[in-house]
Amino acid sequence: MAAYEIIEHNYDVVVVGAGGAGLRATLGMAQQGLRTACVSKVFPTRSHTVAAQGGIAASLGNMGPDNWQWHMYDTVKGSDWLGDNDTIEYVTRHAPEAVIELEHYGVPFSRTEEGKIYQRPFGGHTTEFGEGPPVQRTCAAADRTGHAMLHTLYGRSLKEKAVFYIEYFALDLIMSDDGACTGLMAWKLDDGTIHRFNAKMVVLATGGAGRTYFSATSAHTCTGDGGGMATRAGLPMQDQEFVQFHPTGVYGAGVLITEGVRGEGGYLTNSEGERFMERYAPTYKDLASRDVVSRCMTLEIREGRGVGPRKDHIHLNLSHLPPEVIHERLPGIAESARIFAGVDVTKEPIPVIPTAHYNMGGIPTNYWGEVLNPTKDDPDAVVPGLMAVGEAASASLHGANRLGSNSLIDLVVLGRAASLRAGKVVDPESEVPKGPDAEVERIMERFDGVRHMDGDLPTAEARLRMQRTMQEDAAVFRTEETLKQGCEKISALWKDMENLSVSDRSLVWNTDLMETLELQNLMANAITTVYSAEARKESRGAHAREDYPERDDKNWRKHTIAWVDAAGKVSLSYRHVHTEPLTPPEKGGIDPAKIAPKKRVY
Ligand code: FUM
Repeated sequence: MAAYEIIEHNYDVVVVGAGGAGLRATLGMAQQGLRTACVSKVFPTRSHTVAAQGGIAASLGNMGPDNWQWHMYDTVKGSDWLGDNDTIEYVTRHAPEAVIELEHYGVPFSRTEEGKIYQRPFGGHTTEFGEGPPVQRTCAAADRTGHAMLHTLYGRSLKEKAVFYIEYFALDLIMSDDGACTGLMAWKLDDGTIHRFNAKMVVLATGGAGRTYFSATSAHTCTGDGGGMATRAGLPMQDQEFVQFHPTGVYGAGVLITEGVRGEGGYLTNSEGERFMERYAPTYKDLASRDVVSRCMTLEIREGRGVGPRKDHIHLNLSHLPPEVIHERLPGIAESARIFAGVDVTKEPIPVIPTAHYNMGGIPTNYWGEVLNPTKDDPDAVVPGLMAVGEAASASLHGANRLGSNSLIDLVVLGRAASLRAGKVVDPESEVPKGPDAEVERIMERFDGVRHMDGDLPTAEARLRMQRTMQEDAAVFRTEETLKQGCEKISALWKDMENLSVSDRSLVWNTDLMETLELQNLMANAITTVYSAEARKESRGAHAREDYPERDDKNWRKHTIAWVDAAGKVSLSYRHVHTEPLTPPEKGGIDPAKIAPKKRVY
């Protein structure tokens, strides 16, 4: 192995990733008086949260009656009763104060006539525990809410003196012999130097793994790096089978068109010009939850009622909306539709198709962000020194399906919760731990090995094979046949990847090497997704099995836990769902009868 000079850093906390969750955790950790670093492979304001459009859910009640219990009910139902109710209560209760905090930090929210934060309707968000009309709960900064949040949170983190290591690629976690995390190794992309970060707490905030799929709304940087690092450290992933398809990705380009379009009055039509959602979801129609709308669109296409010469997509109509609504509330999607679909939204519908958008699964955590390594004796066992937040994590706010705009609130409420917890468990006076040097050698050997791979399978070709397999075999609808085929193909690819070719051996801006490391991370996510999906013999939320069309609470109301070893062998086990909310009803908590499982209709 080549000799690598290693530059050392010591911090109380190192956050990996600078999207919404990473920045909110970084800010909070620094506010706790902890020496905090944030390591990011992209400039913070280019993190994928920048692409979040429609808004952030919180029951502020600015546009009509609302409360946290209605929000909780909608989230439990949206999760198809797989969400952890302690997490759901924590987030929905703290959501209003988290949004007000963002407002005070300077997020430029859109405003009502009276100057309050503007809120729009979003799918699955209702009143009266699902019995009343849709609620306007999604707080928006036009259709650029994530952009506004990222810029504000980055500025605030700098103000609190958090230190940023920008364009550093995290390689692997440094684990101690007794299973605690003591830091990580990173490669600085612009000068090729190698860095060892020792820390009392590492927080993985690396985002989702949308790029396991061929067509995704996610940025090309969404490569599941946290999941890759966690699995290589021998830790499991949770509920990976639940991958959300957003109903309205631009046909052919995958670019997101916010659900806010339907919130503002847009609607979907098939080749007959029919507003088909009225047939499938008579009450909430186009504002049913995402998994439901994506399935209905797919059925319309399958039954020959898709639009376009190949009848393979659907129309999203908004030309009937007043131009000032489009101009004020939806300027970004008007621009995206023009650039990516060649469409003037004031005159023509946008061609759309369900597109991979969000991973409900991830690194298992509790609602404080502490990473879990479930054992038989303790399904909630915590990994010392390691947290995960945001899309990289599965605190199970979203269960089997996430409601639109519940992601941004997840990032800020649980990013903040992680910092509050770290404020309790991290002692700023204690010495920064230094993990075993053998771990560092192992990590650098792997890095060096990848750098010098000289097989005959180009990274781009392997990535395409993975993406096409996931797109075809682990899509909106699944069967035993497609999933088994998906498992076989991904396992074969795992093996073939021993034969990857990396043609650039340099260390400075070596995108060939970075993409190969990213592909390995993606594969850890892809393989746990297909095996978890094959094993789950029911339909729940985003996991729609045609051969098991019903939800089966008796056998399957449980979280999947999946490990993958270096040879690509996946082992599965299961963990209980936290069905108990945090607060009993006599102390002001939700009535348990309200959140008991029932048939999920919109
Ligand atoms: O449709 C959207 O604006 C996406 C929001 C979300 O995924 O929460």
